[in-house]
Amino acid sequence: THLSPVIKCKAAVAWEVGKPLSIEEVEVAPPKAHEVRVKIVATGICRTDDHVLKGSFPNIDYPVIPGHEGAGIVESIGEGVTCVKPGMEGLLLHPLKSMVKLQWCRSRPLLYVSNLYESQNLMPDKTSRFTCKGKAIHHFLWISTFSEYTVMPDSAIARIDDDAPLDKVCLFGCGFSTGYGAAINTAKVKPGSTCAIFGLGGVGLSVVIGCKSAGASRIIGIDINKDKFTKARELGATECINPQDFKKPIQEVLVEMTGHGVDYSFEVIGHTDTMVAALASCHMNSGTCVMVGAPPSGSQLSFDPMLLFTGRTWKGSIIGGWKTKDSIPKLVSGYMEKKFNPDVLITHTLPFDKINEGFELLQSGKSIRTVLLF
Ligand code: APR
Ligand code: ZN
Repeated sequence: THLSPVIKCKAAVAWEVGKPLSIEEVEVAPPKAHEVRVKIVATGICRTDDHVLKGSFPNIDYPVIPGHEGAGIVESIGEGVTCVKPGMEGLLLHPLKSMVKLQWCRSRPLLYVSNLYESQNLMPDKTSRFTCKGKAIHHFLWISTFSEYTVMPDSAIARIDDDAPLDKVCLFGCGFSTGYGAAINTAKVKPGSTCAIFGLGGVGLSVVIGCKSAGASRIIGIDINKDKFTKARELGATECINPQDFKKPIQEVLVEMTGHGVDYSFEVIGHTDTMVAALASCHMNSGTCVMVGAPPSGSQLSFDPMLLFTGRTWKGSIIGGWKTKDSIPKLVSGYMEKKFNPDVLITHTLPFDKINEGFELLQSGKSIRTVLLF
């Protein structure tokens, strides 16, 4: 075995809640057994990263390097790593294809779910590979993509098509796969059905793409920001409505529009009131409501149990319900075959240094997705 040295590079560190990210020089230790060190090429900014900055992501320890929607190139591997080894051999054999293109994602959904709130803030051995000014810095969801170099468990990395454009397919690490999968996998939207999507951000628009490709005949987009409607229509929404344009609750508006409520509703905002409104919007006997937006940490729901008693189904969906390590590379292949095109979700591209500008665009509602390039 060889020991690759510590790498010094730039990373965006969240030192504490409520502060903007600060670009720092960090040291990135070599990967330990079953870990991979990666040079990031592109990363998207997701609302969940903003939750980390605001302190509304549960059980996160600071300082932390956020970012979880990235793509890059394997720099070195620890002992026992086999999943990217074929690529590394390819690197030796085919210098022209020397970049092993990867997409990382949280594989092993059970592990992801059971560990979501604890160990993904550190490597599986409960230590960190990042230091800055002599202080250990925490990881985020095991992948911390807001860094020029990062270390992750090999379970969190998957090979994708060699010619996949990393500055586009980084969205498959979270936003696109989350929304598209919520429609395709979790709801299993049927052809000819009616769908309502609450929240038309990057994830909500990906739900729209999923409903459309599943053959839904009516797709109703709901957002308080009407600037989101143009893109939603472009991607397949047949109607878009703003709850602020109505005096009555939006669930009543939807029930009136459809006669009995929609077949499938999706909450893609992360507010408890819209979670209940989405549930109430679907058909009382046969409707399915999918919770996609991350609930605020520590929140509780209160709702009329009659909504469920009459026969509605309420489901949760995390990363689109995919077995990520197997399925996400297939999704990327589908993209390469032009089965769907989430490129339109990328409204802004910025150099990594301008990461805080990217967050401002997100916070002001001006961007759908900003991709940072390294
Ligand atoms: N009613 C309707 N729409 C709303 C409301 C509301 N009360 N409040 C906010 N919105 C809209 C915003 O205007 C925005 O267009 O919801 C959209 C949310 O989109 P983004 O903030 O861009 O978030 P996105 O990245 O799409 O993620 C949505 O999914 O994965 C989770 O953590 C993520 O909870 C977040 C959610
Ligand atoms: Zn995300």
